[in-house]
This record gives sequence, structure tokens and C-alpha cells, in this order.
Amino acid sequence: MEALLSDDIRDTLNDVLITLPAPLESVDLTLARVRQAFSVLPAELLSRIASFGRHVSSPGALCLRNLPIDPRLPPTPVDGERSPLKETFISESVLLGLTEIIGTPVAFRTEKGGRLIHDVVPVPSGATTQTNQSSTVFLTFHNDLVFDESSRYDWANPDFVILVCVRQDPGRIARTYYADARHLLGELPPSIVATLREPLFRLNAPGGYVRNFADDAEVLSEPLAVVTGPSQSPEIRLAANGVRGITPEADRALIDLAEACRSVSHEFQLAPGDALLINNRKGVHARSPFPARHDGTDRWLQRTYVRREMWTIRRRASAGSPWVH
Ligand SMILES: [Fe+2]
Repeated sequence: MEALLSDDIRDTLNDVLITLPAPLESVDLTLARVRQAFSVLPAELLSRIASFGRHVSSPGALCLRNLPIDPRLPPTPVDGERSPLKETFISESVLLGLTEIIGTPVAFRTEKGGRLIHDVVPVPSGATTQTNQSSTVFLTFHNDLVFDESSRYDWANPDFVILVCVRQDPGRIARTYYADARHLLGELPPSIVATLREPLFRLNAPGGYVRNFADDAEVLSEPLAVVTGPSQSPEIRLAANGVRGITPEADRALIDLAEACRSVSHEFQLAPGDALLINNRKGVHARSPFPARHDGTDRWLQRTYVRREMWTIRRRASAGSPWVH
């Protein structure tokens, strides 16, 4: 599903966003300011974005195009960290404005150092990993998961992932894919779906967690079903960093599922001014390989993790910040 802003609406929103101070001096105040700024959007568009986040029946991905962009950009950071050279904050404001419409941003200690705004760029040391730092490999279909001591990584994780394209890769090769679980269940034979609904799968913890906190050793979840819930509104969970089937049938089902993901997925090419809103429970997403130069010209996305509520993950809440879990 896509929505294209008119140039007039883009310029009106830009004129408000360009006046905002740098984000994150106070997150609550920043969110209030971007909420005010986004009120210049037509009610029909605001309603469409809100409905995407609200309804069980909504599509799993929404691409918004022709959003405001920063007038000047520094080089793409090469280390996955925030660029201290970015002088304007249009992309951050767009990201937080969209986040505010569908939920609340959430940060995790184990992901991007607990920052609310993630810079997603190719990093040399991560080029071939199954993480957001990769470039030369197909980043397999997955949900964004979060390590949790409960051994369920699909519990505290975000309900939504929002991506804003700051800079496209120079060759315009990179593609992002989304496979909706409703379409997957329609594609797969009933016997495979039945296997996916059994607790026969163990998910590896996210690559960033395994690398930084577990000496690169596998940290597997408890056995769980990849698919749960009603067939008209299923939830799906897959780890980019590896899924282990407990039986040969489970491994076979994973192979069939991967094929089905490729055949039912929608493809998105993100350019500056584009945002992709991803429901992280209704479907799985992936990214094509793309060339990375690590010279400041590379692809640069910014990302938030979004939850509809925080109460159920309150035991993870950090004493230092209400945003970090
Ligand atoms: Fe992801």
C-alpha cells in the first residue's frame, strides 16, 4: 500500500519541520512538537496512517512518498552511529512524527546503544552478517526481535518498524521486501502451515545481541510456533540470525516458508522522501544485497521501533530513562 504526498502538502509540512529545534533534548517535548507539526497534513492522510496502525485488518506495510527531506546531508556515517555532522533534522522529525501517529517509540539497551533513532547503514565489519549493518548478503525474511530473559524474543519487540530513507545507495540497487502472513498462509499447503503452527522452532537472538553480549554464541529461544492466531489475522515470527527446526519436518517447513516469502512479498525501492511503515507482527521483511563503498556515499536509513503500549514490558524498564527497555 502506498500514499503519495502532493508537493504542496510536502512543502507545508517542511516549512513547519524546518523550524523545529534539534530532537531529543526532551523526547516528550520533541514528540509533542512533531505531533503539532503533522497536524498540517490533510485529515484523510492522517486517518490513513492511523488506521494502518490501529486495525487488525489493515495491510502489513505502508509506503509514504514525497515527504520532506533535509536540504543538506553530511556523509553517511560508516560506523552505524549517529552522525554528529547532520545540521538539520527533517528526517528525524518525519520519523518521529509518523511514529507518534501509530504508537510510541521504544529503545532497547541491546539495540543501537539504547538510542530511539537508529541509523541503518552498511558497516564494513557487518557486511556479511544477518543484521541491519549488512550489505553484500540477502538479509533474509525476518521480524525485528529483541533478546529477553524469558527466552521469547517476540514478546518485548516492537509492534512496528518505521524506516525513513535519508540517502539511497548510489546504484539504486537496494530493495526492501515485505511478506504478509495472511498471504503466506494462502500460499502454503495446509500440512506445512500445520507444522509452522507447532512449537518446533527455536529462534536465535538478534545478531547485535549475540555479537555484543554472547561472544557470538547462539542464544536460542524456547521452542515456539512460527505462526499463531486466526488464519484471517495470523502473527508470524522469524529470526534473521537463524531459526532451528527441532524436527526434519520443521526444517522442511522453513524451506517452504522461505520460498513462499519470496513469491508473495511486495518489493519497495526507498528513495529520499520515502518512509516505509512495517507491521512487525503481521508479516516479515527482508532486504536485497547492495554494493557498499563505506566512503560516506552509502545507503542511509533512519529507523524507529514502535509499540502500541509499554505496560506489558514494564519489567524491562530502565531506571535511567523511560524510553529504554
Ligand atoms: Fe529488520
